[in-house]
This record gives sequence, structure tokens and C-alpha cells, in this order.
Amino acid sequence: MKDAKTIVVAKGDGIGPEIMESVLEILKSVVARLNFEFVEIGEKLYTQGVSTGISKEAWNAIKEHKILLKAPITTPQGKGYKSLNVTFRKVLGLFANVRPVVSFQPFVSGSDNKVDMVIVRENEEDLYAGIEYRSTESSYLSLKLISKAGCERIIRYAFEYAKVNKRSKVTCVIKDNIMKITDGLFHNIFKEVAKEYEGITADSYIVDIGAARIAKKPQLFDVIVTLNLYGDILSDIAAEVSGSVGLAGSANIGSEYAMFEAVHGSAPDIAGQNIANPSGLLNAAILMLNHIGQQDIAAKIQNAWLKTIEDGMHTVDIFNSASKKKLSTKEFTELVIKNLGAIPTQLKAIEAKSSEKINVQVEPIKQVHKEMVGVDIYLMDHQRSVEEIAEIFKSNSLNLVLKSIAQRGLIVWPTAEAEEVGNSMMRLRFLAKESVKLSSKDIPDLLNLVLHNGLEVALLHSLYNYDGIDGFSKAQGE
Ligand code: NAI
Repeated sequence: MKDAKTIVVAKGDGIGPEIMESVLEILKSVVARLNFEFVEIGEKLYTQGVSTGISKEAWNAIKEHKILLKAPITTPQGKGYKSLNVTFRKVLGLFANVRPVVSFQPFVSGSDNKVDMVIVRENEEDLYAGIEYRSTESSYLSLKLISKAGCERIIRYAFEYAKVNKRSKVTCVIKDNIMKITDGLFHNIFKEVAKEYEGITADSYIVDIGAARIAKKPQLFDVIVTLNLYGDILSDIAAEVSGSVGLAGSANIGSEYAMFEAVHGSAPDIAGQNIANPSGLLNAAILMLNHIGQQDIAAKIQNAWLKTIEDGMHTVDIFNSASKKKLSTKEFTELVIKNLGAIPTQLKAIEAKSSEKINVQVEPIKQVHKEMVGVDIYLMDHQRSVEEIAEIFKSNSLNLVLKSIAQRGLIVWPTAEAEEVGNSMMRLRFLAKESVKLSSKDIPDLLNLVLHNGLEVALLHSLYNYDGIDGFSKAQGE
């Protein structure tokens, strides 16, 4: 087809093939200016021994055509292969996960309040990076790794999104009362960037109350910007509040590539039954059409879908007392196709959006003055008491002095804010002796002393001040 854009399509696992078939039928019926190139990813490849869940050919197709429409795939829980979704986001630099959530009252039951929010979630960093360790016999560690550039980019994206889409408020959701350094960074950047957007209100919530408010008063929210894990949880709450996780689509946007998918998973419990709601993936395809500049077609499909919903023609997951008929996936698809060209009369009809692209520039990292002030050493499990450990470092010729021992973020030496907790990983905090300037050359001597005394090191972290501000948290009681 002339002027057609090639889209890479992955049919996924579980209900994936059924809902993708439905979406492709609708796209083909409306003569979207699209060609499709199909790739195999997910469970089938895992079981063939391809541990990445994706073939080289699939990567090549995605790299060539840059746009991926993906049905959900099954990811093993608690063990096994890494999530392919997370791999896509990281490898393709899909830094923004954009999830619009809208309620369709009174046709789909959900919250009594109107939901019309967009969750803009950081997509590449945070606990989602899945960097984990069994650090000692008894302690396990997951790294919440975030970067200044990553935070700034998603926050700027959220404000630009609000501007382009004429939304009036951006809410930052964080937990910086506890994670003062990581979530604190996100919140501080948010406050700085907000100053550049005069017409847009900026506010913030701590994630626990933020989540509760989304559930109870979703009308308070317009655009939400948040870190990866919080965004994942909040968008499912919001989708459920709006009526069903089966309704929402999401866009994963990078500067070169983009991936579109439903918010929900592969729903293995209902796979192959012809009852899945294809709306989440269809809404993702609508986001995709808007992204590639086919706004006219996006609006036409969205209006047909809204008409079907307001006519009470519903799949089982959203079937309620206001519904007229319970439809299978195939019947629902046929009705949406029949409604192409129709305009909803009760739900708000969609007009083709303008094609303004969102570009974000991140400021280069400013030079900061950094000064090494100490070293934290986490020990492997051992049988010695804190006093015995402290005794080892009491007098030494090093530039570092043992200042405190903590377990699980609580001081256990020199004062005890808590009882020593069995074998839980001990953190020894060494700070510079008075008027000594430290450098990383001081680390080997400290390590030698630790090892010489029969202790094993699980983890070591240098402690720095940046422009005079501590780049490390204090333990409770420190
Ligand atoms: P899920 O979203 O697949 O299912 C949760 C519940 O919602 C189930 O009862 C399911 O039947 C229902 N549901 C989901 N989508 C529906 C639809 N379109 N129509 C009707 N009902 C629907 O979440 P779950 O069970 O936690 O995960 C199943 C698998 O999906 C896991 O392997 C998980 O890792 C994967 N997953 C994949 C995602 C992706 O590919 N983007 C996202 C989330 C989960």
C-alpha cells in the first residue's frame, strides 16, 4: 500500500493471539495505512531454549521498522527467564510508559467518580531493572537504581505531554519521606522542572496515600508522573477503578522506537475461550496510530469502539447490569467493525488529534565537587558479636575509623537502637579520621584488615559528599 507504514506485530502468549487477531481485523477493515510484519516472541521461544525469548530475526525487524504492536507475553514468576517486556524497554530505550485511563460511566461499572488520567511512568530504571543478589546466606538485596538524567527525562516528558494534550495538572508520586536520596531526587527535579511550565499546576503525593486517592477519588488526577514500580502498580489500580484491566492500552515511547501493548497480561486462565476483551490492545493500537501520524484512523476506530461500549455490547469482564448483551471476543470485534464510521452519542466522541511530537532535552550533568568521606562494608554472615567486630577496628593505622555498625538500617553499635538481629547482614560504616583527605587508595588497606581478621565482604560502597551534601543515607539512630 502506498504511504503505508510497516508495523512489527507479536501475537504473544495466552489470550495474546485471540486479541491480536481481533485488533488486526479491525485495523484491516478501516484501511489503516499499515503493513504488518509478524515476529515470534515469548513462551514458544523460551520452551525452544531461546533464553532471551526473542529471535535475531525479530530484533532485526523491530530495529528496521521501529514500531512494535505487542500482545501480552507470559513471564515466569519468581524464577526462570528475565521479562522480555523489560528487555524491550531497556534495549530500545523506551523511557516513557504512557497509560491513559478513562472511565466509561454509566456503561462500564467502576468508580462512582469520573476517571480521566494519564499515568506517565519511568520505564527503564528503578527496582524494575531487576538487579538482585543473594548477598549472604541470610540476606537478599534488590537495587533501586535511578539516574538524574532518567528522572529529568520522564518528568520533562510528562510536562510536555500535558502541554501538547492540553491537560492542566501534573502530579508527582514518590516515597521520599523514606527514600530521601532516590525518590528525593525525583521529587526535587519535579519541583525544578515544574517552574518552567507556568500554566500547569504541579502537586505531589506520597505513593501510599496517592494510591488510596486514585482508588477513592480518581477525579483528583490529570497527568501522573512516577517511578517505574509505582507506575506499574498505580496504573493497574487506575485501570481497575475505571472498570477493568482489560480496557487500558499503553504506549512505550523512546526517542527512536515505540512499542504499544495492553496494560494487562496474557491471562492464561481464560486463554483459548474466545471470551477475552480485546479493548486494551485495541486502545494500544489507537495510541500507535496517533503516534505514527494516522490520527484520522485512530479517531474513527476509537469512536466505533466507544459506540459499541455505550450500546451495552460487552465482553464478560465488563458485563454489568447496564449491559445489553454478553459478547465473545469475535462477536465484539465484528460489532466494532460494523460501527466504523458511527459516532457515540452519550460518551464523548473523539476528534482527530493534532500531530505535535513530544521532544525532551535533558540538561547535561553539571560538574559537582565530590569528596570521599568514608566506606561502608557489608559483611557476610559470621558468628561474632558486634563488640568482637568493633574490637578488630578499635586502633589501627588506617585513615578510616569505624563509626557505626548497623543491621537492617538500625544502629547496633556503639549505641544500640535495636537488638542485634541474628545473622542479618551487618553494615560497618568507616569515616575519615580527623583532618584526613580520603581517596579510593584507602580501600585496599581497609579490605586487608577486614580479610586478615577472617571476615568476608559481601558488599562495599564508597561514601561521598557531593557539593557538601551526603550522598548516603544515615541509619536510624545515627
Ligand atoms: P493478567 O493481566 O494476565 O490477568 C489478571 C486477571 O485479569 C485474570 O483474571 C484475567 O483473566 C483478567 N484479564 C486480563 N486481561 C483480560 C482481558 N483482556 N479480558 C478479560 N479478562 C482479562 O495478570 P496475571 O495473571 O498476573 O499475569 C499473567 C501473565 O501475564 C504472567 O506471566 C505475567 O508475567 C504476564 N504479564 C505480561 C504483561 C505484558 O506482556 N505486558 C503485563 C502483565 C503481566
